[in-house]
Amino acid sequence: MIVPTTKLFELAYGKYAIGAYNINNLEQTMGLFRGNLESSAPFIIQISKGARSYTHKKMLESLIRAADEIFPEAIFAVHLDHGDEATCLDCINSGFYSSVMIDASHEDFETNIAITRRVVEAAHARGIVVEAELGQLGGVEEHVKVSESEAKLTNPDQAKEFVEQTGCDSLAVAIGTSHGAFKFTGDQVLRFDVLAEIQKRLPGYPLVMHGSSSVPQEEVERINQAGGNLKGAKGVDADQFKRAAELGVTKINIDTDGRLVWTRVHREHFLEHPENFDLRAPGKVFMAEYAKFIAQKNEKLGSAGKLEEVRRALS
Ligand code: G3H
Ligand code: 13P
Ligand code: ZN
Repeated sequence: MIVPTTKLFELAYGKYAIGAYNINNLEQTMGLFRGNLESSAPFIIQISKGARSYTHKKMLESLIRAADEIFPEAIFAVHLDHGDEATCLDCINSGFYSSVMIDASHEDFETNIAITRRVVEAAHARGIVVEAELGQLGGVEEHVKVSESEAKLTNPDQAKEFVEQTGCDSLAVAIGTSHGAFKFTGDQVLRFDVLAEIQKRLPGYPLVMHGSSSVPQEEVERINQAGGNLKGAKGVDADQFKRAAELGVTKINIDTDGRLVWTRVHREHFLEHPENFDLRAPGKVFMAEYAKFIAQKNEKLGSAGKLEEVRRALS
């Protein structure tokens, strides 16, 4: 069942965070639904601009509709990840998305406010909620690379002003994480002090943490041993998710870790079975491994076991 993102936030606020997982294909979709049901968790499916154009924007919508029928017990929201204004409007008008993210964080403060406000107006007119971003994460997203030294943490005073002026429903904050598999390459740490200041100014308001993959070292080693080259890859300590949730983070974005599972499964499979050319053989292993990964992640987020509580609250 597709539900409004804000409904999930209201129920989670201060207690746990909802996992927001990116999908690009059929195998990820199946693994995602299975993993969330195995761990009894509500979740958010994220679709990036790149994912929309990988095949066709309708393709992922169809996969999600099919999964909703195959797994009627699932409760989830569908969210556009890192949208520009045009993509947000397209998603709002499609009537399929629960929420959109307008990412104008690379613009100056006033321009970010102006763009975000336009998207909020269009979205709210259709009953769709909006995530915006203030501050800048490091890493690569949509082919734009921001070095960690160029990344800008969210200013807590500006965060309050930004939310008041734009009317956005949740805010992605930059508190030290970065996109991709190479986080904390310098002396950066997760800045709970900044997060606490933001929460003080915006009590009860849902915050979002992007760039939250953990980049498990065991996964990196297995990939490297199977011919990969991800030396120095590092991520966020998943044991910190619950503290972030207590400080107002209700949505935690994870994409890279899923890509690592995919890479490890396929590299190991073809190394061990050089004679194989049936894509379904590694695909089956991936779906099972991805489901296991999602279930473990939900334990760390605190969303595991919350599905029935959410169902009761929604009925
Ligand atoms: O933050 C970006 C997400 O990981 C999506 O990545 O734009 O390559 O689909 P993508
Ligand atoms: P990771 O690269 O850490 O998985 O972050 C994903 C993300 O923020 C998607 O918006
Ligand atoms: Zn992101």
